[in-house]
Amino acid sequence: MENQDWVYSDIVKEHFLHPKNYLMGDESKFDYDAVGIVGNPICGDQMKMYIKVKDDKIDDLRWKTYGCASAIASTSALSELAKGKTLDEALKIDAKDIDDYLGNLPKHKFHCSVLGHEALADAIKNYRER
Ligand code: FES
Repeated sequence: MENQDWVYSDIVKEHFLHPKNYLMGDESKFDYDAVGIVGNPICGDQMKMYIKVKDDKIDDLRWKTYGCASAIASTSALSELAKGKTLDEALKIDAKDIDDYLGNLPKHKFHCSVLGHEALADAIKNYRER
Protein backbone atom coordinates (compact mmCIF):
# COMPACT_ATOMS: atom_id res chain seq x y z
CA MET A 1 0.00 0.00 0.00
CA GLU A 2 1.23 3.48 -0.94
CA ASN A 3 2.16 5.88 1.86
CA GLN A 4 -0.32 8.75 1.36
CA ASP A 5 2.03 11.11 3.22
CA TRP A 6 4.19 11.27 0.08
CA VAL A 7 1.49 11.49 -2.59
CA TYR A 8 1.30 14.69 -4.62
CA SER A 9 -1.97 15.54 -6.35
CA ASP A 10 -2.01 15.92 -10.14
CA ILE A 11 -2.55 19.67 -9.66
CA VAL A 12 0.57 19.92 -7.48
CA LYS A 13 2.58 18.07 -10.11
CA GLU A 14 1.23 20.31 -12.88
CA HIS A 15 2.16 23.50 -10.98
CA PHE A 16 5.60 22.13 -10.11
CA LEU A 17 6.39 21.08 -13.68
CA HIS A 18 4.81 24.16 -15.29
CA PRO A 19 4.89 26.94 -12.67
CA LYS A 20 2.70 29.95 -13.37
CA ASN A 21 4.12 33.48 -13.23
CA TYR A 22 7.67 32.28 -12.58
CA LEU A 23 10.26 34.97 -13.38
CA MET A 24 12.46 33.64 -16.15
CA GLY A 25 15.82 35.37 -16.38
CA ASP A 26 16.83 38.32 -14.23
CA GLU A 27 14.47 40.80 -12.59
CA SER A 28 15.07 43.46 -15.27
CA LYS A 29 12.73 41.33 -17.42
CA PHE A 30 9.73 42.35 -15.29
CA ASP A 31 8.55 45.92 -14.64
CA TYR A 32 7.62 45.65 -10.95
CA ASP A 33 6.65 48.21 -8.31
CA ALA A 34 7.88 46.34 -5.22
CA VAL A 35 9.68 43.18 -4.22
CA GLY A 36 9.50 40.98 -1.12
CA ILE A 37 11.97 38.36 0.05
CA VAL A 38 11.73 35.76 2.80
CA GLY A 39 13.53 32.66 4.00
CA ASN A 40 11.97 29.56 5.52
CA PRO A 41 13.61 28.96 8.92
CA ILE A 42 12.59 25.28 8.80
CA CYS A 43 14.57 24.40 5.68
CA GLY A 44 16.55 27.52 4.70
CA ASP A 45 14.82 27.91 1.34
CA GLN A 46 14.23 31.40 -0.05
CA MET A 47 11.50 33.13 -2.04
CA LYS A 48 11.40 36.46 -3.89
CA MET A 49 8.09 37.98 -5.05
CA TYR A 50 7.76 40.90 -7.48
CA ILE A 51 4.46 42.75 -7.76
CA LYS A 52 3.01 45.24 -10.20
CA VAL A 53 0.17 47.22 -8.62
CA LYS A 54 -2.60 49.16 -10.37
CA ASP A 55 -5.63 50.76 -8.67
CA ASP A 56 -4.67 49.05 -5.38
CA LYS A 57 -4.85 45.61 -7.06
CA ILE A 58 -2.20 43.04 -7.96
CA ASP A 59 -2.03 43.80 -11.66
CA ASP A 60 0.71 41.25 -12.27
CA LEU A 61 3.38 39.38 -10.31
CA ARG A 62 6.40 37.17 -10.74
CA TRP A 63 8.43 35.06 -8.32
CA LYS A 64 11.70 33.20 -7.99
CA THR A 65 12.75 30.63 -5.43
CA TYR A 66 15.41 28.28 -4.17
CA GLY A 67 12.53 26.29 -2.71
CA CYS A 68 11.41 22.69 -3.03
CA ALA A 69 8.77 21.20 -5.34
CA SER A 70 5.99 21.97 -2.84
CA ALA A 71 7.12 25.59 -2.49
CA ILE A 72 7.19 25.94 -6.28
CA ALA A 73 3.72 24.42 -6.71
CA SER A 74 2.32 26.44 -3.79
CA THR A 75 3.69 29.74 -5.02
CA SER A 76 2.50 29.02 -8.54
CA ALA A 77 -1.01 28.47 -7.12
CA LEU A 78 -0.73 31.57 -4.92
CA SER A 79 0.28 33.68 -7.91
CA GLU A 80 -2.86 32.59 -9.75
CA LEU A 81 -5.04 33.23 -6.70
CA ALA A 82 -3.53 36.68 -6.03
CA LYS A 83 -3.67 38.15 -9.52
CA GLY A 84 -6.44 40.74 -9.81
CA LYS A 85 -7.08 40.84 -6.05
CA THR A 86 -6.84 44.03 -4.01
CA LEU A 87 -3.76 44.22 -1.82
CA ASP A 88 -5.89 43.54 1.28
CA GLU A 89 -7.59 40.56 -0.39
CA ALA A 90 -4.22 39.17 -1.48
CA LEU A 91 -2.94 39.40 2.10
CA LYS A 92 -5.86 37.22 3.25
CA ILE A 93 -4.90 34.27 1.01
CA ASP A 94 -3.55 31.74 3.45
CA ALA A 95 -1.91 28.32 3.46
CA LYS A 96 -5.31 26.60 3.63
CA ASP A 97 -6.53 28.44 0.49
CA ILE A 98 -3.40 27.28 -1.32
CA ASP A 99 -3.76 23.75 0.03
CA ASP A 100 -7.40 23.64 -1.09
CA TYR A 101 -6.49 24.98 -4.55
CA LEU A 102 -3.83 22.30 -4.96
CA GLY A 103 -5.98 19.44 -3.70
CA ASN A 104 -4.02 18.98 -0.49
CA LEU A 105 -0.28 19.00 -0.10
CA PRO A 106 1.31 16.18 1.89
CA LYS A 107 1.00 17.28 5.53
CA HIS A 108 4.75 17.40 6.20
CA LYS A 109 5.09 19.81 3.22
CA PHE A 110 2.42 22.22 4.45
CA HIS A 111 5.09 24.62 5.80
CA CYS A 112 6.36 25.08 2.22
CA SER A 113 3.11 26.75 1.20
CA VAL A 114 3.81 29.61 3.61
CA LEU A 115 6.92 30.80 1.79
CA GLY A 116 5.20 32.41 -1.21
CA HIS A 117 2.55 34.05 0.93
CA GLU A 118 5.15 35.60 3.24
CA ALA A 119 7.12 36.91 0.26
CA LEU A 120 3.92 38.40 -1.16
CA ALA A 121 3.10 40.02 2.20
CA ASP A 122 6.63 41.46 2.32
CA ALA A 123 6.27 42.84 -1.23
CA ILE A 124 2.93 44.48 -0.33
CA LYS A 125 4.46 45.95 2.84
CA ASN A 126 7.37 47.34 0.80
CA TYR A 127 4.95 48.73 -1.79
CA ARG A 128 2.98 50.55 0.89
CA GLU A 129 6.14 51.97 2.48
CA ARG A 130 7.48 53.41 -0.78
S1 FES B 1 11.42 22.19 2.05
FE1 FES B 1 11.91 24.31 2.02
S2 FES B 1 10.16 25.28 1.24
FE2 FES B 1 9.75 23.17 1.12
